Amino acid sequence: MINVGIIGFGTVGTGTATILLKNRGLLKQRTGVDINLKRIADLDIRRDRGIRIPKGVLTTRAEDIFSDPDIHIVVELIGGTTIAKDVVLRAIRSGKHVVTANKALLAVHGIEIFRAAEKAGVEVGFEASVAGGIPIIKVLREGLVANRIKAVYGIINGTTNYILSKMTTEKAEFSDVLKEAQRLGYAEADPTYDIEGVDSAHKLAILASIAFGVQFTLRDVHREGISWISPMDIDLAEELGYTIKLLGITKETNGRIELRVHPTMVPQDFLISKVDGVFNAVYVEGDAVGSTLYYGRGAGALPTGSAVVSDIADIALNIANNSVGRIPAMPGAINPMPLMKMDDVVSMYYFRFSAIDKPGVLSRISGILGKHNISIASVIQKERLAGKAVPLVVLTHRAREKDVVTAMKEINKLKIVAGKAVLIRVEGREQG
Ligand code: HSE
Repeated sequence: MINVGIIGFGTVGTGTATILLKNRGLLKQRTGVDINLKRIADLDIRRDRGIRIPKGVLTTRAEDIFSDPDIHIVVELIGGTTIAKDVVLRAIRSGKHVVTANKALLAVHGIEIFRAAEKAGVEVGFEASVAGGIPIIKVLREGLVANRIKAVYGIINGTTNYILSKMTTEKAEFSDVLKEAQRLGYAEADPTYDIEGVDSAHKLAILASIAFGVQFTLRDVHREGISWISPMDIDLAEELGYTIKLLGITKETNGRIELRVHPTMVPQDFLISKVDGVFNAVYVEGDAVGSTLYYGRGAGALPTGSAVVSDIADIALNIANNSVGRIPAMPGAINPMPLMKMDDVVSMYYFRFSAIDKPGVLSRISGILGKHNISIASVIQKERLAGKAVPLVVLTHRAREKDVVTAMKEINKLKIVAGKAVLIRVEGREQG
């Protein structure tokens, strides 16, 4: 029998406990191992979570788990990067295997945690840290082991995807939809991590580390949020055949790794553009398999619990078969590749200028773009209001970020342009 101790009895803790209790027989049939939920530690063990926990399982002392020699696997479901870090390192040093759903912890302290686990000869499972119930870590580590990974594109934050989807279908303002998301309990009370792309960046750092065998951290990720996206840009994007999504993008380009989270215009005929609401999706391209796409719930008690329990089952199997460490948590570098500086990233761009409607304006703007090697694919001007500012939209061919930043600085200074230009990167096929 393999004994499990859960620390943190919140949403995911409840989902994990529910699955372990309800599907214990099924898990035994499938793995041949009896997985027993021995302990759950939380400061609040009185609140009704809607499940019946057997007598003697609940405790307010995490110590009861660390010091129990019969507990093989500690599941950290506290969240955050402070107490959770102590809990994980304590469990590792007590010779226990660890399962965690904590993306922030791994994206910030992953290197230290994996080193400690290697030294102690224990496993760290983290399937639930990225894209909730979608088994994307297993896909990258095992299912696609035969492939050199070329690119990963992910909608890996449900809150922002919900907000952008609602803004698209209801033509609503960002702040109104955010309030609704908060009312429905999707967005955190402090939604900064979601809307500023931090949560996606945590998850992308983890995915990229596995995909490319280089241990990236949050600091390596270029990050932009969605709070500045307006219904006007969503409409214009739609008209041009695109949907705006907050994407985590990592790819290998000429031996360097791109690592970025930002709003992105995705062609409407790409499957990932159809992923709406709180759902997540991850597109992975391998050199052998080609394009693959994984879709599902990225959050919630049972979907995330499903991922946590899959790690528990893997570790239980490895213990039972004397194969602990069968798959290294973080694969060694296949061919260590440096991070690509954002300045060197090449992308297509959407610019929206608020330009005074008078002769010669477009040539001033296109002159500056041309001077910086930015080639225009198409231009649209929606209204005609002589002498007044109107939206002028430019789609570009592939251009270098550094050139774009320089050109934008120059254009934003022009008197014929009101305010700052809006810039959204565009993925997909070249137009024009
Ligand atoms: N805040 C996250 C999301 C929850 O919106 O996807 C799961 O990490």
